[in-house]
Amino acid sequence: MGNKNFQYILEMKNVGMSFGNVEALRNINFSVGKNEVVGLLGDNGAGKSTMVKIMTGVLHPTCGELHIRGKKVTSRDYNVKKAHSYGIETVYQDKSLGEKQALWRNFFIGRQITNRFGFINIKKEKEIANNIIMDMIGFRGVGIGVDSKVSKLSGGERQGIAIGRAMHFDADLIILDEPTVSLSVKEVKKVLQFVEKIRVSGRACVYISHNIGHVYDISDRFVIIDRGMVVANFSKEEMSLEKLDEFLLRFASKKRGDE
Ligand SMILES: Nc1ncnc2c1ncn2[C@@H]1O[C@H](COP(=O)(O)OP(=O)(O)OP(=O)(O)O)[C@@H](O)[C@H]1O
Ligand SMILES: [Mg+2]
Repeated sequence: MGNKNFQYILEMKNVGMSFGNVEALRNINFSVGKNEVVGLLGDNGAGKSTMVKIMTGVLHPTCGELHIRGKKVTSRDYNVKKAHSYGIETVYQDKSLGEKQALWRNFFIGRQITNRFGFINIKKEKEIANNIIMDMIGFRGVGIGVDSKVSKLSGGERQGIAIGRAMHFDADLIILDEPTVSLSVKEVKKVLQFVEKIRVSGRACVYISHNIGHVYDISDRFVIIDRGMVVANFSKEEMSLEKLDEFLLRFASKKRGDE
């Protein structure tokens, strides 16, 4: 995908997704610019994770189109591996990391560096992993190193490592689905700093969280979905945090029938 003349790294056009008779997404139009952080907001069950799965090739939409770097992708050829090769990575809170492995091994799952005899180049992998955690992520000292077991790391550190992986493998679009769930205040801060790094390094991010304050701080634009449909799309200049909060509350109360 060498085409540089594209406006959006990823675009969904009139996407619909049904699970049996559950219509999870309806006529979704959603785009992410080349160097943009888009906050994706919506209640539980609104369809956010389903959108992520379509973007990353886990699910194929029932209808509509997915465009990457301005080119339409063919559903039947699109999968997680293809998404990686297009520079699209997802970071889930828990499931993205092999718990029992040492950190350096974890970086290279499924994409080992091997020598000409097919053996894993341990020295090289450790060296790269060390550079990532020190320079890219900025973990300095405090008991975390390439030999640390992933299961010993805090939630925020795991999230950071998964993001570091995505950055090392040159992902242009990093999708974070609920990264701050069950993280301490300090860890949340660290994750938000990582997202800032994603932006500074010229990449794009889709950030999903129920914490409106966090989403507001780091996003350039907000897309709000409600029961499978896009109900609003604002740039940060158009919307204060208070207004965004009010807007979301209005949807929540409509749903409960309070109005
Ligand atoms: N594999 C599936 N089979 C059937 N229904 C599904 C499936 N996956 C999702 N759904 C339904 O689709 C709707 C959207 O779910 P989704 O997980 O995308 O919501 P979400 O916005 O990520 O919610 P949350 O904020 O709670 O994570 C829900 O009604 C859900 O029950
Ligand atoms: Mg979800």
